[in-house]
Formats: sequence, C-alpha cells, structure tokens
Amino acid sequence: MDKEPKKVIIAIDGPSGAGKGTVAHYLANKFNLKILDTGLLYRVVAKLALQQKLEPDHHEKLVEITKNVTVDDVTQDGLRSEEVAAMASKIAVIPEIRAILNQIQRDFAVSNPGDHQGVILDGRDIGTVIYPDADCKIYLTADQEIRALRRMKQEDNVCQLEIQRMMAERDKRDSSRPTAPLNAAKDAYIIDTTHLPIDEVCEKAAYYVQNSCLLSTMTA
Ligand code: DC
Repeated sequence: MDKEPKKVIIAIDGPSGAGKGTVAHYLANKFNLKILDTGLLYRVVAKLALQQKLEPDHHEKLVEITKNVTVDDVTQDGLRSEEVAAMASKIAVIPEIRAILNQIQRDFAVSNPGDHQGVILDGRDIGTVIYPDADCKIYLTADQEIRALRRMKQEDNVCQLEIQRMMAERDKRDSSRPTAPLNAAKDAYIIDTTHLPIDEVCEKAAYYVQNSCLLSTMTA
C-alpha cells in the first residue's frame, strides 16, 4: 500500500499590515493547504472580553473565557476592528492564554487532514514557538508608515496617523513581551514588502515554499 505523503507545515510571521494574510491565502490556494490566521484566535478572546467589559488585567476571567474558544470561532463577524486588535495584543501577553491558544494551533495541523498537502498558519510566533520544525518559515515585514497606510485603505473613516499610532503601540507590545515575542526565526526567509507589489511578494513566498517542500501546484 502507498504511504500517505507527509503533510507539510508552513509558518508565516510578521507584524500587522506586512501582507501575511494575502500571502497565506495565495499559498493556500496555490498549494492546496489548510489555512489558519492565528491572530483571529486572540481576537476571539478580545471580542468576548470587550463584550463582557473585562480589563486586560482580569487574568482569571480572561483565562476562563479562553478555555471555551474553538478553532471554529474564527469565522465570526466583528473580529477585524482596531478596538478588538488593540485588546488582542494586550491579552496576548498572558502566558496562560497563549498556552491554551497554542494547543488549538497545534491541534489544527493534525485535525481533518483531508486531501490537503499540509497547513499554513500565520501569526507572530509560528516559526519560533508553535512549529519550530516547520518545513518552511517566512517572515514578512515592512516599514510602519506603509503598513499603516495599507490598513487605512482596508477600513472606513480612519486616519492614517491614528492607525500608525495604534500600530506602533501594538508592535512594541508584541515585540517586547516576555513570552513568545514577535521575532523572525533564525531559519526564516525574510521578505521586506515595503517597496514590493503584493503579487511579487506572493511569488517570492511561493518560490521559497516550493524550494523547501517540493509540493505540487494546484493553480497556474
Ligand atoms: O495578526 P493580528 O493583527 O490579527 O493579531 C492580533 C494580536 O494577536 C496581535 O497584536 C498579537 C496577537 N497574536 C499573537 O500574540 N500571536 C499570534 N500567533 C497571533 C497574534
């Protein structure tokens, strides 16, 4: 009997607005990969916290609500606002919350493998903490001003300077927290997307994946 081909794991990390989501979707389509935007898990907890008027230092209650989160919760509406993003960054410093969400991310790779060639996860600590043995790690980055401009174009009625201020706060918190800070893994391919059109970024990322994993291509 033929052995099942090994399912690959692709890690994409970087700060917000660097292009992770677009690249992850492109690669997921091109190589038939199951996809998880791990930031949405933190946003699910953040949205619940805001609804229940919890503060970021209400650790015990925040951990309790996190225990009920499942991977299916990420499809709900109302997760993309800046308010939810800011709260997500604040609760992401809590190690107990990270431990619960880490398990969901690791279970994702082995659940319902289907006919996918593997999984792709995007976040802040995929290549460093969640899957340090990922088959291909990509770290996307870009100047903060450009990232803020991109975010502004995705939202209505927001000012670029305000987005940039909030982004700077989040970048600082995400990069300086003691547990699993935003960092490129030593063996990650780094792509600076500041001056690159997004289709070139996607092609570069696909080249790295192909180089590391030798996958068959689903789309032209
Ligand atoms: O990628 P995003 O903007 O949706 O993420 C929201 C917040 O969640 C981000 O500011 C930090 C946190 N996060 C994290 O700590 N680890 C991840 N793997 C993904 C997101």
